[in-house]
Amino acid sequence: MKKFLVTTLIIAATATTAHAGLKVVGRGDAMRLDPSSYPPAMKANYDIMRVRCVKCHTLERTIVAIQTGVAPISGQPFDRSATKAYGIKMLRKPDSNMSKPEVKATVDLMNYLLSEAGQ
Ligand code: HEC
Repeated sequence: MKKFLVTTLIIAATATTAHAGLKVVGRGDAMRLDPSSYPPAMKANYDIMRVRCVKCHTLERTIVAIQTGVAPISGQPFDRSATKAYGIKMLRKPDSNMSKPEVKATVDLMNYLLSEAGQ
């Protein structure tokens, strides 16, 4: 039993390391992502996100949601089945100043990042 527990812990630790793929730069309000290892399409999507998704709050909110799998304000699950609804919710806010294709790009990026983060 003890051996099983140790093995399980080692596997869990390794799994966490393997998924530490989300490169985050800075803290708090200055928090952002390092897109250097993203495929070109996702780099382009990040260029949209870092401009459009910081109008009302910083990127920290989005990054924390992706890292933890929990939306930080509502406490609701933040997984691949939820990203589109969050994107639409942001689009519909007054003066969101985003187009539907821009929101779709950020939703695609969030889905990519969720799998990079191991969620
Ligand atoms: C027009 C202002 C505005 C823009 C633009 C905006 N947001 Fe938000 N966002 C908010 C507000 C206000 C909240 C507070 C909680 C809520 O209303 O959902 C929020 C909350 C969030 C949350 C947390 C939701 C929760 O339930 O905890 C995430 C994640 C998020 N935004 C991501 C994004 C992303 C990604 C974009 C770009 C596609 C974006 N936001 C653009 C205003 C905005």
